[in-house]
Amino acid sequence: MKYESLKGKVVMITGASSGLGEALARAFIDNDCVAYLSARSKDKLDTLAKELGDNAVSLPLDVTDPQQVKRAAEAMVSQHKRIDIWVNNAGGEKKSSLEDLTPELLHEINAVNYYGLVYGTQAAYMQMKKQKEGDIVQILSTSSFTSRINESAYCAAKAAASLFSESVQHEVRDCGILVFPIYPGGMNTEFFKKAGATLPPDSMEPKDIADIVLNAVSQPRNIIVVPRIFRNSWKK
Ligand SMILES: NC(=O)c1ccc[n+]([C@@H]2O[C@H](COP(=O)([O-])OP(=O)(O)OC[C@H]3O[C@@H](n4cnc5c(N)ncnc54)[C@H](OP(=O)(O)O)[C@@H]3O)[C@@H](O)[C@H]2O)c1
Repeated sequence: MKYESLKGKVVMITGASSGLGEALARAFIDNDCVAYLSARSKDKLDTLAKELGDNAVSLPLDVTDPQQVKRAAEAMVSQHKRIDIWVNNAGGEKKSSLEDLTPELLHEINAVNYYGLVYGTQAAYMQMKKQKEGDIVQILSTSSFTSRINESAYCAAKAAASLFSESVQHEVRDCGILVFPIYPGGMNTEFFKKAGATLPPDSMEPKDIADIVLNAVSQPRNIIVVPRIFRNSWKK
């Protein structure tokens, strides 16, 4: 879909090397935004940026490192003087039973799904409060409020990221910054393969969720977008 109000916006998308992040990158570029694409896989980002054209910028980083996230925000400001939209989308999981959940795995899951989102939110906020405007999109999950066997660490990290997001929403509103918590269900991405899980039947297409995100951030600023939950139709 085309959203006239997004034209020229400067956007960061974390986790842009595949899945929903890649779909978001395509959608923002189709809407004439300048899109910074970040993830750890430099080659995939470079290839995607080349395909998407001059408005797409490959900016490899690891969201679990707050310094790398901060430097990325500084690079955007030095090149474009502003950050209009920051999408905290990077995430992932590895399924594990309680017994097999090592401290290292627990840290890894929290580092990307919770701490990474916090670092991104802080980096975006530092610039957006100077601009007195900006949108921060948090890609959470129905796992934030649905308990799942062998996914306790992931569900808990997404729950923490959810409550963090809904709390800071109140803190930043007076600075003209809006926070959009988005709660997708099963999407047809590489996520399940990486997690050691099975793709749920009737999974949603990431491009459809990307369009919902663009629709949310394109609304007039006096419209409050309440948390949005999207489920695939699969029932156990
Ligand atoms: N698929 C689903 O059913 C589903 C449902 C609800 C919510 N979600 C959430 O949606 C978001 C996108 O997931 P997806 O389904 O599109 O999965 P995906 O295709 O596996 O994409 C995950 C992205 O995150 C990046 N990433 C992972 N760790 C990173 C790190 N430390 N630093 C920077 N980037 C990192 C990956 O790139 P690199 O490996 O190159 O870094 C990749 O671009 C995640 O937050 C996920 O939790 C997914």
